[in-house]
Amino acid sequence: MRRPAPRLLEWSAVPAPRRAHPPAHRTKANPVSESPSTPDAPVIDEASIGAAVDAALAAIAAATTTADLKAVRIAHTGDAALLSRANRAIKDLPKDQKAAAGKLVGQGKGRVQKELAARQQVLAAAEEEAALAAETVDVTLPTDRRPRGAAHPLTTLQDRIEDFFVGIGWEIAEGPEIESEWMNFDALNADPEHPSRSLQDTLYVAPEGSGMLLRTQTSPVQIRAMLERGAPLYVACPGTVFRADEIDATHSPVFHQVEGLAIDKGLTMAHLVGTLDALAAHLFGGAPITRLRPNHFPFTEPSAEMDFRCFRCDARLGLDHDADPACRVCGGTGWIEMGGCGMVHPNVLRAAGVDPEEYQGFAFGLGIERILMLRNSVADMRDMVEGDVRFSQHYGTEI
Ligand code: DAH
Repeated sequence: MRRPAPRLLEWSAVPAPRRAHPPAHRTKANPVSESPSTPDAPVIDEASIGAAVDAALAAIAAATTTADLKAVRIAHTGDAALLSRANRAIKDLPKDQKAAAGKLVGQGKGRVQKELAARQQVLAAAEEEAALAAETVDVTLPTDRRPRGAAHPLTTLQDRIEDFFVGIGWEIAEGPEIESEWMNFDALNADPEHPSRSLQDTLYVAPEGSGMLLRTQTSPVQIRAMLERGAPLYVACPGTVFRADEIDATHSPVFHQVEGLAIDKGLTMAHLVGTLDALAAHLFGGAPITRLRPNHFPFTEPSAEMDFRCFRCDARLGLDHDADPACRVCGGTGWIEMGGCGMVHPNVLRAAGVDPEEYQGFAFGLGIERILMLRNSVADMRDMVEGDVRFSQHYGTEI
């Protein structure tokens, strides 16, 4: 019987399943017995079956992994194995030999299967045990002892100060640490002879006459912010500043300030005080009371020193009470000196392209180290710059 020619080309690539079209003479009704002389049919006697069983048992015993054992199973009990072929050949034996051959092969196969199962159990158990051992965690081992870092408390405090300003709707502005003399002094209305320009106070960048310096204050960021963003403007400018100071318990050549600048129509010193009151409450808690004392700064007019009421005396003695004469924070005065402030000088507004007839502004500057020292009783500024992580761990986590 001819098969119809494949209609689709790819079908031709698929081999026809074996026995899909058995030849007519190999039907169930008329089986064709495989004669023992067929090459596939092995001799079934005790010697050959015994040898096959022995070979299988030896291979089983030699398997050291379940993967090995799988290969042994296929080799010795799979379709092509002698025992399987012998099993298949039994049906073609003369009737009187079938029972004996069946028993011989059946027992042989049984022994091999039994050994396979037993070995499988042993090897699987060993493998599982090895896997568990490999995954075991020794809880008595020392823990990870690598030291953990911590944010420096100045960074944490600066973040907290920034949070305050962002909370009242101001923006954060930054400027470069290497600054032009013009930004740091001239635009801020500092007289050419102003003592702060001297080499004793200011670190200039070589070569001499470069006109560049390490900024001595964050005030130049006022100028940059006004030039870049224009009025109205509400910015806080935190950053590192530098002065030609020797380091001691209360001074450092490198320290941090935060500058506040508000430019708008109709701003007065009342707005300045209100802002400082809110900042004082945010930083120190308690009743916010700011006191201004007249002073002079080139970039503000009028200018003032600002003091916050001592939070420690308030907490200990109540608001109506005078200061604690022995207070470590305020030295018994009841007030903490916080920095400078004032109304932005018209010359500064003009230098930064803002019309002083139209806009007014207030500004203030505070030292962040000083706030940290007061707030967290840090007695020596050198502790802040030494870089000992224990200092940061102590103060840096939550302040
Ligand atoms: N820049 C001043 C300083 O470093 C601090 C300061 C005073 C900033 C008055 C201001 C201000 O904005 O209005 O000592």
